[in-house]
Amino acid sequence: MKVAMSLAEVRDLRHQLPDPFGLVPTMGFLHEGHLSLVRRAKSECGSVGVSIFVNPTQFGPEEDLEDYPRDVERDMLMLEDEKIDLLWTPMAEELYPPGYQTWVTVESLSQPLEGAHRLGHFRGVATIVTKLLTAVRPDRVYVGQKDAQQARVIRRLVQDLNLPVEVVNCAIVREPDGLAMSSRNAYLNPEERRAATVLHRALTAAAEAYAQGERGADALRLKMYEMLLGESMAKTQYVSVADPETLEEQWGPVERALLSLAVFVGKTRLIDNIVVGAG
Ligand code: PAF
Repeated sequence: MKVAMSLAEVRDLRHQLPDPFGLVPTMGFLHEGHLSLVRRAKSECGSVGVSIFVNPTQFGPEEDLEDYPRDVERDMLMLEDEKIDLLWTPMAEELYPPGYQTWVTVESLSQPLEGAHRLGHFRGVATIVTKLLTAVRPDRVYVGQKDAQQARVIRRLVQDLNLPVEVVNCAIVREPDGLAMSSRNAYLNPEERRAATVLHRALTAAAEAYAQGERGADALRLKMYEMLLGESMAKTQYVSVADPETLEEQWGPVERALLSLAVFVGKTRLIDNIVVGAG
């Protein structure tokens, strides 16, 4: 595994690697969810790179940028084990030099859901992902469905900016009790960790209702709320039944829908989602 920090180094090393080159962009503190992206990339690409960068511009002023879990040494050992070809740990001062003022904004898709509660978040995500993609020009970029809106935003920006990269969406990896894997799970104490399963329980309750024939968006949202209300440690921020492509909230009957939610368990904000319907 070669390690690059500067743009010059990463460009140089990437040119020496066989195509197709797959990139897995991450913010580090890796877990099985990230590794599933790495393994998928390894199985489909001639060479694989991972970037680790806690991107400051996607965190709001009240968010957890300072506290975001970091352990690059541990991440490096995990990536060595996966036998990736290239690790890039960009330098913030090179990606965002003094006077920086250029941003990528994916308009409507950034507005609802996470975008409504994390102002500027997707501007930061879209900007850094564009910078990572243009720096190393991967043939494929691997993104997790755990951040469903982020995956949709990335797909759109790649299409709109005509970037020659295929976006590969990878399934959510869950703990045995259903909790979606996330670096932020590290914030949970044991009691909160137990309570956090309510996100998956709420999604499952709605998905089961859908499987039994329920098509009303209101009824599906209600199913999720009912389950969340049963967990005293959970404070719901939003529950949504949205069109998986446009991310517009749905009010009538739905055939295919993205069910998603954001919930505080203690101070930790967790998100999860599930798609119901064919396609
Ligand atoms: O999902 C993440 O880890 C980040 O949002 C990403 C895509 C690496 C951009 O910073």
